[in-house]
Amino acid sequence: MKKETILSGIQATGALHIGNYLGALKQFVELQNSGTAECYFFIADLHSLTMPFEPKTLRANTLEAAAEYLAAGIDPEKSTLFIQNQVPEHSELAWIFSCLTSLGELERMTQYKDKSALRKQSINAGLLTYPALMAADILIYKPTSVPVGEDQIQHLELTRIIARKFNNKFGETFPEPKSNVQKPLRIKSLMHPERKMSKTGDEPLLISDEPEVLERKLKKAVTASEGQSSPGVENLMQLLAFFAPDTEVKQFESALADGSIKYSELKISIASHIGGHFAEFREKKKDLLANSKRLQEIMAEGAKKARATAGRTLQEVKEKIGLI
Ligand code: TRP
Repeated sequence: MKKETILSGIQATGALHIGNYLGALKQFVELQNSGTAECYFFIADLHSLTMPFEPKTLRANTLEAAAEYLAAGIDPEKSTLFIQNQVPEHSELAWIFSCLTSLGELERMTQYKDKSALRKQSINAGLLTYPALMAADILIYKPTSVPVGEDQIQHLELTRIIARKFNNKFGETFPEPKSNVQKPLRIKSLMHPERKMSKTGDEPLLISDEPEVLERKLKKAVTASEGQSSPGVENLMQLLAFFAPDTEVKQFESALADGSIKYSELKISIASHIGGHFAEFREKKKDLLANSKRLQEIMAEGAKKARATAGRTLQEVKEKIGLI
C-alpha cells in the first residue's frame, strides 16, 4: 500500500523554462519514481479560463503541457495524468464547494485581489470562485499532501477550511491535505539577475531549447568583469551545478576563486550540459506533438482513471448532503 497520495495542478502557459522544471516537474517525476506515493497530475485548463485567453492558444498550450509532462518522465502507467475539464466531477464538486464558501473568504484571497486590481473593468466571477474549483480538484482525490508554490499556499489553506466545514456539517469525509511548499528556487533571469527567471521576463531558458538556442540566450547573460563575481555569475554557477558533473563544477569554482575564469567558457559549458540533459526530452516531446491523436488518447486514458476515483468521492458527497 502506498502511504501518500499527492496531487498537483499546473496552468499551461506555454513551454516550461528551467526554473519551472527544477522547481516543480523534476520533483514530481522523482516522487512518482520513488514509488511511495500515488500521484495525480493535471493540467488546469478550466482555471485558465479565468484570465483572457484565445481558444487556439489554450488548446496548443494544453497539448504542449501534456507533451512536456510525458516527455519529462511523468509515466501514465505510474501516475494519473489528465486534463482537468475531462474529469467533469471537478466542476460539479466545485459548485457544491462554492455554496459552502463565503464571499468574504473568496474576496480575501491575495491572488484574486492582485488579479482583479490589474483588470478593473472585466473581472469574471470565475476569478473569484477559482479557489472553490481548486479545492474540488484537490479534495476529490483525498490527497495527503499537495506540492505547491508559495503563491498557492493561501488557496490550499482555504481548501483545508472547506474540508473542515464539510466534515463538521456532513460527517468526516475529507482528510485535510498538508501543503508541501516547494522551496523557492533562485534561478534568476539571465539579463536581469535581480529578478526570477520567468515566462514573461527576457528570454528564459526553455527545457525544449536546442543547444544553439541555449548558447545564444546564455551569451546575453550578464556576468561581471572577468574574474569577479556578481548575482548574474552566481546564477550561472548555480545552473552549472545543477547540470554539469561535479569535477567540472569544481574546476569552474576554483577558476572563479583564483580569477582565471572565462565567462564565455562557462556559458558554453552550461549550454552544452543543459542541451545534453534534455536531448531525449526534446525528441520525445517532438514525437508526442507530431502525433496529437495518440497524445489525446493518453490524456483520455488518464481522465478515465481519474474519473473512477473522482466519481466515487462525488457520489459520497451527494449522498451525504442529501442530493438524490
Ligand atoms: N492554481 C494553481 C496555480 O496557478 C493550479 C492549480 C489548479 C492547482 N488546481 C490545483 C495546484 C490543485 C495544486 C492543486 O499554480
